Amino acid sequence: METFPADAQAIASLANRQQQGAKQLENSEVQEFDRAMMRRCIELARRALGKTAPNPLVGSVIVRDGKIVGEGFHPGAGQPHAEVFALREAGELAEGATVYVNLEPCNHYGRTPPCSEALVKAKVAKVVAGMVDPNPLVAGTGLTRLREAGIEVVAGVEGEACQKLNEAFVHRILYRRPLGILKYAMTLDGKIATSSGHSAWVTGEEARSEVHRVRVGCDAVIVGGNTVRLDNPLLTSHQPDRNNPLRVVMSRTLDLPKSAWLWETSVAATLVLTEPGVNPEFQEFLIAKGVEVVELSPLTPTNVMAYLYDRSFLSVLWECGGTLAAKAIAEGAVQKIMAFIAPKIVGGQAAPTPVGDLGFSAMTDALTLERVSWRAVGADCLVEGYLKIKD
Ligand SMILES: NC(=O)c1ccc[n+]([C@@H]2O[C@H](COP(=O)([O-])OP(=O)(O)OC[C@H]3O[C@@H](n4cnc5c(N)ncnc54)[C@H](OP(=O)(O)O)[C@@H]3O)[C@@H](O)[C@H]2O)c1
Repeated sequence: METFPADAQAIASLANRQQQGAKQLENSEVQEFDRAMMRRCIELARRALGKTAPNPLVGSVIVRDGKIVGEGFHPGAGQPHAEVFALREAGELAEGATVYVNLEPCNHYGRTPPCSEALVKAKVAKVVAGMVDPNPLVAGTGLTRLREAGIEVVAGVEGEACQKLNEAFVHRILYRRPLGILKYAMTLDGKIATSSGHSAWVTGEEARSEVHRVRVGCDAVIVGGNTVRLDNPLLTSHQPDRNNPLRVVMSRTLDLPKSAWLWETSVAATLVLTEPGVNPEFQEFLIAKGVEVVELSPLTPTNVMAYLYDRSFLSVLWECGGTLAAKAIAEGAVQKIMAFIAPKIVGGQAAPTPVGDLGFSAMTDALTLERVSWRAVGADCLVEGYLKIKD
């Protein structure tokens, strides 16, 4: 079993005290121990980043007498849930133990039997959950079932971090659409490219590596035809053995170059979305290259998100230019913004900006982000926030 560096000392000292019979641990010590175990659940869950759609990211830890006796995470749809792996590893030691899990255990028969029943059968003493499952099929019933069976239940430990981990899953369940994230890199004077359209690179290496990490956690990454023509992007996560999102190109003209990194499908899969009957010859060329081509009518961000929802996706990263970004925002296909800002000034009246025309004339019309945070990434700054969700 892997050890985890971040909380190792705190956990070791608590475990020692528990083993030495210190029955009266301070309340704050118990809470810190619970939080450390929940952070470990999150760490385990993240091993399956980008691989679980439409399922959530879940990790589980089983602790008995202050020692971890079982761990597990959910590797992907159709495979056992995190608690099942942790129970398997704990074996008989699960009896009387505390189970930590970042999401309420399921209580229904899906592709696998309910975890609540597995926990009851294993005779665990206590379950600590990070958050209640928003899925109406679960929504608190998992925790109720455990309480009814006499198991002590605590919910909401590291709740904020657990919500953030599964924000795309929660959004998908509540709004029946994938979470749309608009990511862009701009200069300090708000340009995403020069007046000639040149944009490599706006930000530095560390910010670009951060983008690669973000892609690992996404199911699809979208650009428009113009970005393919001007930038010839690769759009992979650049990390061996980690998830590459499905690379999606939206093009109404299919007036695209025959030579493009996106048509090299041995690295990662590519889907081209267009409108019915457009450029059949180019469609054949793409199909022969192993690129999937799908016609949507009309080709709009709304229809694309509905289509990707039907493909079971949780999160979609919009990495397009300003024209398509404005359409995606206007149609409510974007909920989260990730803006990388480089301390550079490039100027240019005609240089493109991250978001095209939204039809606003007054500053009071501006979309104000919520839950805003910012941090330095190398020499650049990353501002993140959320748009209000349209009803
Ligand atoms: N710094 C950054 O973060 C960043 C990121 C991406 C792009 N860029 C820059 O942005 C510039 C390109 O900007 P862009 O706004 O033209 O971006 P884009 O990402 O190419 O989006 C526009 C294209 O999307 C396609 N499209 C399909 N359906 C559409 C619809 N319903 N509405 C609108 N467009 C639709 C069209 O392709 P077809 O013409 O093929 O039909 C259209 O030309 C380039 O200079 C590029 O370097 C910068």
